[in-house]
Amino acid sequence: MSTFDLLILPGDGIGTEIMVEVDRIIKWFNDQGTVTFNTQQSLVGGAAFDAHGEAISDETMDMAQKADAVIFGAVGGPKWDDVPYEARPEAGLLRLRKDLGLFANLRPAICYPALAQSSSLKHELVEGLDILIVRELTGGVYFGEPKEITDLGNGQQRAVDTQIYETYEIDRIARVAFDLARKRGNLVHSAEKRNVMKTGVLWNQVVTKIHEDDFKDVSLEHILADNCAMQLVRNPKQFDVIVTDNLFGDILSDAAAMLTGSLGMLPSASIGAKDDQGRTKAMYEPVHGSAPDIAGQGKANPIAMIASFAMALRYSFSKAQEADMIETAIANVLDQGLRTGDIMQEGKRLVSTTDMGTAIIAELNKQTA
Ligand code: IPM
Ligand code: MG
Repeated sequence: MSTFDLLILPGDGIGTEIMVEVDRIIKWFNDQGTVTFNTQQSLVGGAAFDAHGEAISDETMDMAQKADAVIFGAVGGPKWDDVPYEARPEAGLLRLRKDLGLFANLRPAICYPALAQSSSLKHELVEGLDILIVRELTGGVYFGEPKEITDLGNGQQRAVDTQIYETYEIDRIARVAFDLARKRGNLVHSAEKRNVMKTGVLWNQVVTKIHEDDFKDVSLEHILADNCAMQLVRNPKQFDVIVTDNLFGDILSDAAAMLTGSLGMLPSASIGAKDDQGRTKAMYEPVHGSAPDIAGQGKANPIAMIASFAMALRYSFSKAQEADMIETAIANVLDQGLRTGDIMQEGKRLVSTTDMGTAIIAELNKQTA
């Protein structure tokens, strides 16, 4: 039987509530006895700042390095608006991504049939939607130096962020996108701004070359990132895989996520390169944030978090069947009309975070009965 080590980082706000539901699912799998998870839990974000003055401690980073996968909730909230920039909750998340080398962020935007009506677009535009955004996650303007605000001494300040990409960074993310496209609709859109940015020019050249050399069988379209945003809300079903840089990926993935009815539905996987022992580091987190406005009230939708754990089963542990079980359970509870507030529709049943978790576990039980 396979045993895996998980590091659980609930973080802040609704992160702690939705993680309780994942914990229950992990226990459910442990009780089934086909796969076993050893879990450790630690602090990240504002919770870590409150405990020891930084957004993630070296000890927690060490635990993350050793784990087979990190399961991450969400970080941030108004409580930490005034903490120093270096210690802000998001810094914990960015350090995890950078230090674990998680360069490939996979953000599927799938429209569950039961939710097509909750999209802000007409349902026929989103029914059956299945897009995968492949976002570069360890480079670009998020990490480029210099990154600073300097005092110009005349009452003015100057802020600089730096967008940098090197060939190897574009090369490896493009390969991830082409590989995944082969297992799906075989179409990649590469989004950049080559009309105004040198990083866009290089991005375009490198993606073209990788395609030419190794992925001729996959269709490739280059698209300007602003046009991509427009096309996502005009006719989203034209897309299969979208590969893009860190900042454009941040923005485009929020737009794509919302097409599906709620940000509370979408999982993500952040994956690194294979190390010398053939291990791949990975972290799984919902696309949504810590939602401080509804935190602590049992209103949060745990589906994105639970679906992120399903992605861990699929990508880190090669447990496709178990991942399918979770995804089926989610689809079934939606078909039964259960809804948390974010996806509530007339005539459906409003349930709490815990009730949603309980219903998903009941559906898992049905599948093994
Ligand atoms: C995301 C988030 C993060 C990002 C924040 C919390 C730093 O918006 O994962 O999309 O900008 O990458
Ligand atoms: Mg974002």
